[in-house]
Order: sequence, then structure tokens, then C-alpha cells
Amino acid sequence: MTASKTALPLAVLISGRGSNMLAIAQACAQGRIGARVVRVIADRDDAPGIQAARALGLATQVVSGSGIPKAQFEAQLAQTLDESAAELVALAGFMRILSPGFVEPRVGRLLNIHPSLLPRYRGLDTHRRALAAGDSEHGASVHYVTPELDAGPLICQGRLSVAAGQTEAELSARVHRLEHRIYPMVIGLIAAGRVRLTGAQVLLDGSALVTPLQVSETGDADGAPT
Ligand code: GRF
Repeated sequence: MTASKTALPLAVLISGRGSNMLAIAQACAQGRIGARVVRVIADRDDAPGIQAARALGLATQVVSGSGIPKAQFEAQLAQTLDESAAELVALAGFMRILSPGFVEPRVGRLLNIHPSLLPRYRGLDTHRRALAAGDSEHGASVHYVTPELDAGPLICQGRLSVAAGQTEAELSARVHRLEHRIYPMVIGLIAAGRVRLTGAQVLLDGSALVTPLQVSETGDADGAPT
């Protein structure tokens, strides 16, 4: 995959399937966003996404987190990121909680996507919990990472209406499709210098983003603000 050499160098961290990583990599390769994936890093060598990234010719690395102390894992991860020269890091289904010591120096350069309309349903099993609560609306959130889990400043939310009788698998698939639109879109806005973080405040085009950008399942292509 190719992307402009002047594009923002991006690392993507995964633990599993990597469908968000692939959506981001595709947006970069097609020149839809001004970023380029300089490294895909998995914390397990059996992550299916790492094979998919290799197949696309992306630079990959496994930093295995199993059987070693967290501090050692994070030191190896930090070294890998430094070597990659990534200026932005996107967590995309990365199933490890990073310590404050790792996160704090990177605040503003570390993103996550979470499969719920935060602050609802931090943590795991978000689709099941939304269905159990009878929510009529559900979705995904892209946010800056801060030391508190799933609590960093929100940039964008993709929303959908929960259909009657929807199964967890169906809901998960719909949320994934939304994620594949909003995550590349947000990275594109950051790469273009339109979105950034100052303190705890997200700025869009220099003004405070009072509510996160909203993208609906039924809306147009990527929902980026004009
Ligand atoms: C996504 O639902 C994302 O919101 C969550 O983990 C899942 C990763 O899916 N953080 P994939 O590996 O990108 O397919």
C-alpha cells in the first residue's frame, strides 16, 4: 500500500481482527486522509489483523505482552513506537489497559475507538449491555486516550437506532461498519491539523468542540465536517 511520504506517520495497535486498522490503512492508501501507516503493532502473534496487515505490505511488529511484567511490555512498546517515528497512535481493538506512565506523555497523540456511545458502557460487552438495557440508540466513540479507561475527551460519535429484535452479532456488525467510517475520518481531521487537543479540550478548526462530531448510520459517506 502506498501513501504520500508527507502524510502524518501513524501507528495502529491491535489485538484481534483488525478491521478498523484495515479501514484506516485503506483510507490512507487511497489518499482519502493525509496519514500513512508506518507500523501495525499487535500484542499477540496470533492476532488475525497482523496477518492481514502483512498481506497488504504494511510494516508490522508483534510486541508480545504475555508472560512479562506490564512495565517491561510497555517499555518495549514505547521503543517500537519511537523506532517507527509515528506521530499519532491509534488503538484499534487493542485489548490492554495502558498505565498512566505510558499514556501521560502521549496525551493528544493517542486515540481509541470504543464500541458504545460513551460515557455509556465503558469497558467490555458493550453491545450486550446496550441490548439488555433496552437502549434505542447505540454506536461508537472515537476519543483521545487519557489515563482513565474509556474516559478521554470525545472527538466523534457514530450513532445508530437499535432495531427491534436485533441480535448482539447484528448490532456488533452495524457498529463495526460505523467505526470503519468514523475512525479514518477523525484521523484525517487530525492529520489535516483541523482537530487537536489542548488540555482537556478538543478543538475543531481552532474552536472548542462542545459536543463530539456526530455521524449517523444513515448519513453520507464519512460525516466529516466541511
Ligand atoms: C471495535 O469494536 C472497537 O470499537 C473495539 O474493539 C473492536 C475492534 O475490532 N475497541 P477490529 O479488531 O478493528 O475488527
